[in-house]
Amino acid sequence: MSTTTSVDFMQVVTDRRSVKQYDPSFKISKEELVELIETATKAPSAWNLQHWKFVVIDEQAQKEKLLPIAYGQQQVVQASAVIAVLGDLEANKNAEPIFGGAVKAGQLPQEVKDALVGQIEGAYKSPQVARDSAILNGSLAAMQLMLAAKAKGYDTCPMGGYNAVQFAEQFNVPSRYIPLMLISVGKAAQEGRPSPRFTADETIVWNQF
Ligand SMILES: Cc1cc2nc3c(=O)[nH]c(=O)nc-3n(C[C@H](O)[C@H](O)[C@H](O)COP(=O)(O)O)c2cc1C
Repeated sequence: MSTTTSVDFMQVVTDRRSVKQYDPSFKISKEELVELIETATKAPSAWNLQHWKFVVIDEQAQKEKLLPIAYGQQQVVQASAVIAVLGDLEANKNAEPIFGGAVKAGQLPQEVKDALVGQIEGAYKSPQVARDSAILNGSLAAMQLMLAAKAKGYDTCPMGGYNAVQFAEQFNVPSRYIPLMLISVGKAAQEGRPSPRFTADETIVWNQF
């Protein structure tokens, strides 16, 4: 079931916290998880290559398998689902389906597509560019996923505290993808703690250092 949610964006951003305790009896439906991910994938990406993939772990047995990989962090088993956000190290391969479709639909001239593909293939000769792009662009979708969840009344916690090598091995992640973070998503059993932020003065440099 798809639902439309109307919430104040600034409130969502202000209220989002990393929540570590969830109601283990609360299940978010697959449909809603799909909806969250669809919202996440509205994120921008370089050349629109959409450098992301999501492993949605919503079966309890799989969450139990993940628990030691995530160093025993309880949100992994308590949350309704854990979404592993992966970055695509070969996102250049997405150019053909994405731009090819746009050419066929008459939205993109063939010569523009050829020029873009040339730029992309040039850039992807560098493994560093491929890796940086996977992390940069995939992380934008991850952030959007967390805000979408908050807007729907759910809570999340991004987690870098897990063994990415073990995760890739035990969840059969192909070498094309790099694990970026795990995100627990569910109904909070306890609110996240307020966390301090540097002030704008401490954070902003106007015009140049
Ligand atoms: C990339 C990344 C990795 C994180 N890893 C963990 C983690 O493994 N476990 C955890 O409990 N929180 C983790 N956090 C949550 C941070 O501790 C939290 O975002 C930060 O303290 C600010 O609090 P807030 O998210 O509630 O505003 C991570 C956050 C990010 C962005």
